[in-house]
Amino acid sequence: MKRTEPPRREELDPIEIASRDEIAALQLERLKWSVRHTYDNVAHYRAKCDATGVTPDDLNSLEDLAKFPFTGKEDLRQNYPYDWFAVPMDDVVRVHASSGTTGQPTVVGYTQKDIDMWADVMARSIRASGGRRSDRVQVTYGYGLFTGGLGAHYGAERLGCTVIPMSGGQTEKQVQLIRDFKPDIIMVTPSYMLVILDEMERQGVDPATTSLRIGIFGAEPWTQNMREELEARVGIDAIDIYGLSEVIGPGVANECIETKDGLHIWEDHFYPEIIDPVTNEVLPDGEIGELVFTSLTKEAMPIIRYRTRDLTRLRPGSARTMRRMDKITGRSDDMLIIRGVNVFPSQIEELILKNPLLGPHYQLELRREGRLDHLTVLGELRQGDEEARKEEAGRDLEQRIKALIGISTRVRIGKAGAIERSMGKAKRVIDLRPSE
Ligand code: DLL
Repeated sequence: MKRTEPPRREELDPIEIASRDEIAALQLERLKWSVRHTYDNVAHYRAKCDATGVTPDDLNSLEDLAKFPFTGKEDLRQNYPYDWFAVPMDDVVRVHASSGTTGQPTVVGYTQKDIDMWADVMARSIRASGGRRSDRVQVTYGYGLFTGGLGAHYGAERLGCTVIPMSGGQTEKQVQLIRDFKPDIIMVTPSYMLVILDEMERQGVDPATTSLRIGIFGAEPWTQNMREELEARVGIDAIDIYGLSEVIGPGVANECIETKDGLHIWEDHFYPEIIDPVTNEVLPDGEIGELVFTSLTKEAMPIIRYRTRDLTRLRPGSARTMRRMDKITGRSDDMLIIRGVNVFPSQIEELILKNPLLGPHYQLELRREGRLDHLTVLGELRQGDEEARKEEAGRDLEQRIKALIGISTRVRIGKAGAIERSMGKAKRVIDLRPSE
């Protein structure tokens, strides 16, 4: 691995390593402002509070937040496109939108101050990943309504890096720019990074010999085994970045290169809670549940107790005093229930990557036969096209899934390149069940 020094303490924002008491005091002051700002300016949220019988005056401690209603994607949809904005439209300098699966996008807005805060937390994320101002950054997240490209772009500029604004797609050109422009850092979804690596190998370029030192990977779940695959093939540090449009975009939480032990949440701007997704009770740190975020400083689109559907747990700080979240195992929406057993695509990913015959690309096909759901795992050989190896690898994976996850699946292994590639977020699950 090409060596990258972590940032020195004096390079960090002081709040990243402030005491827990200092962080909590700042959070409470900001939370009071944010709840009042939302209540006063977002009619829909005020109505929800009124229906529950709470007002901003009921917020006197961080724990009091639990008295306030949640916000869900549905609330935002009902206010499409601009009714959730808490400032006059003249003060909104940019919008983004997340595509969502149901057609209607969720629109988010930013004031200039919001854009500045976003650039600050993104710069902090890149620095935590080992980036510094002397670095060149190839931004391969899509530019446009998706928050990935522009979010990464402004953050890298804020840190003082040289940005190569490539956006997603044009895989051959991605490789050419890596060869010619010699970026130190690439910011991209992990699944598209794999596509770029295949293209390098097709062109006869050994990924380990490129200038890349760091990959900042996010926008979709990826496993520890995928980290090992990426680090070994490219000789980089592979770092996890998390975020979602409704909260700001990328840069809500990021791993630190010195520990790679979960993602530090930038708690001075985003207040996390973990809830039981069924009872809606707040769970203590350490327990797994649904991640919920409250924005502490956002002006144009403040959000109180937004239900992310992402499952994780909170842990104490390590390389920073701010709390960490575990790598996301999956979204509650992506959880498959196969004859009563809960399965996340990431669990299958781990097992695929344990088999040296199998490449890291995969999809899961879900069908209904009679009254039962059947899962077919589609994978591919790492290289070559021998029937015998396909069968051997398929049988091995079927047995591992049965033994370690406890479900019977069919595994179909194709030749290298058989699985459809994506330019951004990978589509892992193909649901062929009839809609009810
Ligand atoms: O994906 C923002 C982003 C861009 C994050 C680039 C990181 C890098 P959305 O399109 O709104 O925003 O999707 C947000 O993606 O709720 C998670 O389910 C998933 N997600 C994002 N980052 C990670 C990650 C962007 N590191 C949704 N690990 C979130 C697992 C992630 N899932």
